[in-house]
Amino acid sequence: MADSKASLSIDGNVIAELPIHKGSAGNDVIDIRTLGAAGYFTYDPGFMATASCESAITFIDGDKGILQHRGYAIDNLAKQADYLEVCYILLHGEAPNRTQYDEFKSIINNHTMVHEKLVHFFHGFLPDAHPMAMLCGVVGALSSFYHSDLDIHAPDQRMRSAHRLIAKMPTIAAMAYKYSIGQPFVYPRNDLNYAENFLHMMFSVPAEPYVVSPTVARAMDRIFTLHADHEQNASTSTVRLAGSSGANPYACIAAGVASLWGPAHGGANEACLTMLTEIGSLDRVDEYVAKAKDKSDPFRLMGFGHRVYKNFDPRATVMRDTCHEVLKELGIQDPLLDVAMALEKVALEDPYFIEKKLYPNVDFYSGIILKAIGIPTNMFTVIFAMSRNVGWIAHWDEMLGQPGQKIGRPRQKYTGEINRKFIPLSER
Ligand code: CMC
Repeated sequence: MADSKASLSIDGNVIAELPIHKGSAGNDVIDIRTLGAAGYFTYDPGFMATASCESAITFIDGDKGILQHRGYAIDNLAKQADYLEVCYILLHGEAPNRTQYDEFKSIINNHTMVHEKLVHFFHGFLPDAHPMAMLCGVVGALSSFYHSDLDIHAPDQRMRSAHRLIAKMPTIAAMAYKYSIGQPFVYPRNDLNYAENFLHMMFSVPAEPYVVSPTVARAMDRIFTLHADHEQNASTSTVRLAGSSGANPYACIAAGVASLWGPAHGGANEACLTMLTEIGSLDRVDEYVAKAKDKSDPFRLMGFGHRVYKNFDPRATVMRDTCHEVLKELGIQDPLLDVAMALEKVALEDPYFIEKKLYPNVDFYSGIILKAIGIPTNMFTVIFAMSRNVGWIAHWDEMLGQPGQKIGRPRQKYTGEINRKFIPLSER
């Protein structure tokens, strides 16, 4: 039922009456689904103003710097909940009570191990393979282990896939790291919490246990939470599009991992730390700011700018506080943090960045925290993928549970040749 109507007229003639629907918050949407029949497509490369779906999971108001999951503000979640609680909220829509939380935690714990055969997949990779390449391949391969449990129309089977993915992602991510440095894989420990267990699998060795610092575990958990979901970003839209064809969840999540990898998206945290390292000292900050402003130079300040946030990224605010807390508690003096602070200051005061509304995003500080807690740079995007996994799976599950779900099939503005006479090769 339309809340109101828009009429589209071309050269003074009304060609379509388009229903307008209201959401619970955010922009109203003009339903253009009948427009194709009137002989028009809308044209919106990069989805600047296109709502691709209806969703009740995450709300963002980019102008006001608001991010809410199921109505709960991100800074409350980051400071007062743990990541598994956020996973529950994203998947189920409500904050769990103690019994529901304990039950959810125990289900996730029961799925943390991977089949021993999966170990062999890693041995097919060269040791210098990027961990994202391993994550992408191995997550996709999970579907070959659970083919009897892949009825995407059965809500209980979809939820089981969600649990498996949330539980196994850290195990697979840590295995990718261990493989890349030539150390034996470390099995999960279910007596530890989600973040502690990940750190244990990353840093324990058979010769010596790894004592997990509560500060580091808390920071890790907060990084997971701050990356858990972000409505219809590139990787989530990729998962939805892959899933719209009926593809299995593991294949869809592998597609999400691939999409996240790019430096304009999840790859930005790795690129940001590489950039800060390259800048190296305070006296070079101005030079890099000038490079970022130079139209003839493709260089961009990594960790700056966002398609949606035009005032500030609320995740970056929490991440910045966490960054200071972690470095202080661990007693780390990192010169890169000084470079980051100087860069932030210059960029925020510079008319170029003010005019284009370019603010530090979540990836600007996360790299410094990850570095401080000993995570190697090439694992940064893997950690983003592990964290975002729950968002992807929540959106995939929501989409499949909606009535009238259709395969995603965008149209195009065609600019190629037409009606050419084909001349056989022998005559050309
Ligand atoms: N440094 C310098 N200039 C920039 C930057 C930057 N980081 N980002 C955007 N601009 C300029 C850009 O050159 C353009 O200028 P003009 O209008 O003169 O052509 C203008 O700002 C608008 O940029 P855009 O590329 O049209 O904006 P977008 O909304 O398509 O891109 C973005 C958003 C995040 C891809 C982009 O800001 C960027 O490449 N940032 C650096 C990479 C990064 O940090 N990505 C992580 C995003 S947050 C984590 C996540 O959600 O994945």
